[in-house]
Amino acid sequence: MSDWVVRGGAVLSGTVSVQGSKNAALPILAATLLAEEPIRLLNCPVIRDAENMLKILRSLGCTVRREGDDLIVDSRTASDFVLPTALSGELRSSIFLLGSVLSRFSEADAPYPGGCEIGNRPIDLHLEGLRRLNAVIEERGGRIRCRGGRLRGAVVDLDYPSVGATENIMLAACRAEGRTTVRNAACEPEIVDLQNFLRACGFRVHGAGMPTVVIDGVEQGHGATYRVMPDRIAAGTYMIGAAITGGDVTVTGMQPDAVDTLLYKLSACGCEVTKTADSVRVRARGRARGVAFTETRPYPGFPTDLQPQLFSLLSVADGNSVLVENVFENRFRHAQELKRMDAKNRILDRTAIITGVERLHGAEVIAHDLRGGAALVLAGLSAEGETVIRHAERIERGYERMDSVIGRLGGSVIRKEDGIDQEEKTQ
Ligand code: EPZ
Repeated sequence: MSDWVVRGGAVLSGTVSVQGSKNAALPILAATLLAEEPIRLLNCPVIRDAENMLKILRSLGCTVRREGDDLIVDSRTASDFVLPTALSGELRSSIFLLGSVLSRFSEADAPYPGGCEIGNRPIDLHLEGLRRLNAVIEERGGRIRCRGGRLRGAVVDLDYPSVGATENIMLAACRAEGRTTVRNAACEPEIVDLQNFLRACGFRVHGAGMPTVVIDGVEQGHGATYRVMPDRIAAGTYMIGAAITGGDVTVTGMQPDAVDTLLYKLSACGCEVTKTADSVRVRARGRARGVAFTETRPYPGFPTDLQPQLFSLLSVADGNSVLVENVFENRFRHAQELKRMDAKNRILDRTAIITGVERLHGAEVIAHDLRGGAALVLAGLSAEGETVIRHAERIERGYERMDSVIGRLGGSVIRKEDGIDQEEKTQ
């Protein structure tokens, strides 16, 4: 377990080039199984979730190596279709592998991913979609066993625009016989990035980013070199860091349009937001103003993955704010932790009523999940005094050296592994 000690009273300022996208890299890594030739990935983030995905790929027989910042994945040696329980259990997004393993080996055997801190995360839409492609799926003893022969293209109507289900079906359909049409597909930018990667490998996919995605199956893909898109959630997190600390941060190497809804919110909070083709600058102009109403929605709505971080900002804003979480049923666990820092909020089912306070105070808090942990870092930076964040390893699942990034922006986050300052260890 690792703790992070966050020093309060920070004012973040400066420039940060944002990491590669976790939520684009994970399905793309799963898709490397479809190419059967070496893949060179650029800008793949060095984060725990990606490392765990690489371990799973190795366990299936792939060879994985780094060449400088590039990642080379060669699935020619892959031979196993059974996903390891421990790793797959820790990494929920291993469920994306179901579609690509099934497509590659005509069968797949995976542990049920189970729920996590933000909700019970069912996979019914994934399994229904694979069954529509003629997969025979048995769920027994906490495992999912799929057999399929060559999958057959079909029309798949998703009851909900699930990101993971859309990606899983795209991956399974790439080598299926005939055409697959996914309707009510998720439209997130990460789906477009997956499509662009698949097309670079010779697969025939189009329509991603819109509610209907069409995949025409081909026998097999080929190798490619591909650059993973920038992480829009990490970018948004550091922008909110500027707003909550009264700072001035420019995030470069990003896609501003992918976080338009956040830019609008930050302007509504009183920040000065300026963007170029690949950067956004956020300058706080005094204390943020509260925002009457915000609700999370599938893209292009306000992203659920930035809800906790906005929650922290609104906790110190001038005025009251209402925040509704429509995507996950249990994604307010950071609210209680913020209260330990003297925040004022009330949670009524999926609605948070936030009363902004002048100042939070450092406390000992728990990172219950990845984005909730990031929200507590932001709150700690703006608080008076020191905040200790327990289980900070959960933050490292999705943020590439957030402590160093914040250090470069003028903040202080010290990592303690089993109580020993990492900073001391490196001196
Ligand atoms: C992806 O999760 C992201 N993870 C999540 O990011 C993100 O919050 C989410 O999409 C929504 O944008 C990755 O890409 C690795 P969903 P996913 O399927 O695919 C319900 C982060 O912090 N649902 O769109 O699991 C589900 O319960 C993570 O980076 C079903 O009911 O999200 C949820 O309420 C957190 N049945 C809603 O849909 C299903 O079969 C959205 O889930 C699948 C989903």
